Amino acid sequence: MNLLVLGRGKTGSVVAEIARERRHHVGVAGSAENADAAALTAKNLEDVDAVIDFTAPLCILANIEACAIAGKNMVVGTTGWYSDLDRVRKLIAQHETGFLYAANFSLGVNLFLEVARAAATALRHDYSGQIFERHHVHKEDAPSGTAMAMQRIMREASGRGEDLEITSFREGDVVGLHEVVLESPTDRIYVCHDAKSRRGFGEGAVRAAEWLSGKKGFYDFKDVWREL
Ligand SMILES: NC(=O)c1ccc[n+]([C@@H]2O[C@H](COP(=O)([O-])OP(=O)(O)OC[C@H]3O[C@@H](n4cnc5c(N)ncnc54)[C@H](OP(=O)(O)O)[C@@H]3O)[C@@H](O)[C@H]2O)c1
Repeated sequence: MNLLVLGRGKTGSVVAEIARERRHHVGVAGSAENADAAALTAKNLEDVDAVIDFTAPLCILANIEACAIAGKNMVVGTTGWYSDLDRVRKLIAQHETGFLYAANFSLGVNLFLEVARAAATALRHDYSGQIFERHHVHKEDAPSGTAMAMQRIMREASGRGEDLEITSFREGDVVGLHEVVLESPTDRIYVCHDAKSRRGFGEGAVRAAEWLSGKKGFYDFKDVWREL
């Protein structure tokens, strides 16, 4: 595929590296080339099959809009824009493109969320729970999108109306650590995912772009990762 990766940062650079390893043709645009979505005109994207975005909450909506208008499929890893989900869903339907997003493209994290769903059974018994997440100091949003997904999944699975409290830590260069601690008067259960590198995100995002090829519609990675 001809892929355009937006963002030359910590994750975008790994995505581009993995896409090249998987024999795709890869272009990259950072903030200098893509101010106000300048790199995303229909002409510039003529030969591009899909755009993969790992940029920042401030520019993501402009990037999504430009790709939709240009008729291009898009994979979005950037977080911090989910209050605009409905608006984006309508935009994708209006322009009839393909769109796939995830708060976390790691297959391991998606497996971990299934484990967290099962662990939420404890909340039907004599357990209370807390969610902890740790990321590097440069992460712009808190709590992480993954921690919020865990919170939602555990609320749904427990059948209890209330959300578990999330505590966020920003320290050093932690790639991403998510943990649920379930506590009863007699014991503690720890369920934890600790990313060793950004390669898990990169592999998931590139495989997501391959999966999206030739498709239209609005997809959440949590519903498709089992098909990769
Ligand atoms: N879904 C997932 O699996 C997953 C995993 C990891 C991270 N993320 C999310 O992905 C995003 C990026 O994370 P990161 O850790 O890679 O951050 P990062 O290292 O700060 O990189 C962000 C990059 O975006 C670039 N950028 C800013 N505005 C741009 C624009 N208009 N067009 C193109 N590039 C632009 C910046 O370029 P300059 O340096 O040139 O300004 C920067 O290099 C965050 O929202 C993060 O939460 C998601």
